This record gives sequence, C-alpha cells and structure tokens, in this order.
Amino acid sequence: MSNDLVIKDLCANIGDNEILKGVNLTIRGGTIHAIMGPNGSGKSTLAHVIAGHPDYEVTAGEIWYGGQNILELEADERSKLGLFLAFQYPVAVPGVTVANFLRAAINAHRAEEGKDPKATAIPMAEFRKMLREGMKTLEMDEGFARRYLNEGFSGGEKKRLEILQMTMLKPGMVVMDETDSGLDIDALRIVAEGVNRLAGPELGALVITHYQRLLNYIKPNFVSVMMDGRIVRDGGPELALELEEKGYDWLREELAGAA
Ligand SMILES: Nc1ncnc2c1ncn2[C@@H]1O[C@H](COP(=O)(O)OP(=O)(O)O)[C@@H](O)[C@H]1O
Ligand SMILES: [Mg+2]
Repeated sequence: MSNDLVIKDLCANIGDNEILKGVNLTIRGGTIHAIMGPNGSGKSTLAHVIAGHPDYEVTAGEIWYGGQNILELEADERSKLGLFLAFQYPVAVPGVTVANFLRAAINAHRAEEGKDPKATAIPMAEFRKMLREGMKTLEMDEGFARRYLNEGFSGGEKKRLEILQMTMLKPGMVVMDETDSGLDIDALRIVAEGVNRLAGPELGALVITHYQRLLNYIKPNFVSVMMDGRIVRDGGPELALELEEKGYDWLREELAGAA
C-alpha cells in the first residue's frame, strides 16, 4: 500500500564511515512502529536519512512512500507527500510566532508549481479556526500561538509545538526520534498523548527511542531492533518488554551464535 513507508537495503555513510549497512524495514500505514536499539546503532542516522539530511550520503537502497522513492525528492517535497519529521525543530527565526510558523508550513503544503502562492494560501479565517480547534483538542493555552519560536521554548513546549503542527498538517506518516535525554517525563507524556490522540488508520508513526519508558505511554503495534546499522529483530510489543527486562546483550549473543 502506498501509505506504507518501505525501506529497502538502505546503506548510508557519514564521511568515510558506513553507518547504515542494509536496513530493511516496512512501517505499515496506520500503525505505530517503534525502533529500539543501543546507543550508536544508527537509529538517528536512519531518521536523518529519511528526512534528507545533507550530512548523510546514501550509497545504496531505496525508501518508498506515497508511490515514490523519496530519496529522489527534496526535503520539502517529502513533507508535501505527507511525511512529517518530528525531530526537525524549526530554525529559530527572530520575530516569527508559533501561529505564523504554522501558517507558513500549511501554505508550503498548499503551494502549487506555477501558481501564485497568494492564490493557494489558506484564508486567514480558515487558518484561525483550524488553529483554535487544534489548540483546543490539545488543551493548549491560546497565548501559546502568539509566542515567538525562538523565545527559549522548554523541551515540553517544543514537543507541544510538534504535536500541534502534526494535528494541523495531518501527515500520513510521522518519524519521531526521541533521543533527547533532556526530555523530562512531562515532555514524553505530551508526545505520547499527542501520538495516541492522532493514531488511527490515517496515521502511521515510526517512533525511535532508546527509552523503553516512552513505550509505557505509546503502545506500538510493532517493534524492531536496530544494531550496528541493521534491523536485527522484528516483533510485537512484547519485544519491547523483553528488551526492557533483559537489555540487549542476550540478543547480541544470540546473533553472534547464529552467525
Ligand atoms: N555527524 C556525525 N559524524 C560522524 N559520526 C557520526 C555522526 N553522527 C553519528 N555518527 C556515528 O554514527 C553512528 C550511529 O549514530 P546514531 O545514528 O546517532 O546512533 P543512535 O541514534 O542509534 O544512537 C555512531 O557510531 C556515531 O558515532
Ligand atoms: Mg540517536
């Protein structure tokens, strides 16, 4: 199905280092799929490659979404297809409010080649209504929309903005890399509640974490384990519990034994 995110034999380097060594993974549309794995196994690299980060060189493989190999698309085109990269915190631009940022993001999605951006832009009244409704569902204070993006958002506020952005852009697939060890339990809860609220047949989510903790709040349908640049195990939610209990060494040993 075209709303699946399908990663095939993906290899990627940073400089001369091969980090991803043949990743095969399918995130089915409408499901929550967690990737776990020890530090340094390549989880964030995978997220960055999906996002089209320029520091990573893809040397082999494909990533399919919405009927296209997204490796051939620019980052903004990936976003327009319905991919949402939650860890890409917007660059702080002085004087840009949350509301203006969200409106620009929506208008970027509505823009069409060869058309005047003014003609495709969301009408102000419609945007305001959407913003109000989104903030209401998320039980957010209205003053939040008037805050400036660069005004020292806390971890929790950044996460709130991400979830609000997701609510308004309605992506088909989100990729979240929850690696920030500075995230407190409240911020994790905000993310989890937001994802759970939006979850359903219209939204697929790839949730990357080395916190089993997050998975106490987000219930994944599928769990995959990454080690040394490859997916080494796929399972259901019970796999996350097993890893929480036993760590990664048993799996490492099992894999070494099988080799
Ligand atoms: N910008 C970078 N430059 C050089 N090496 C990097 C860079 N980012 C990550 N790496 C290396 O790539 C490997 C995988 O890192 P990463 O994808 O961040 O793993 P994870 O998110 O699973 O902890 C690590 O060995 C790390 O040192
Ligand atoms: Mg990481």
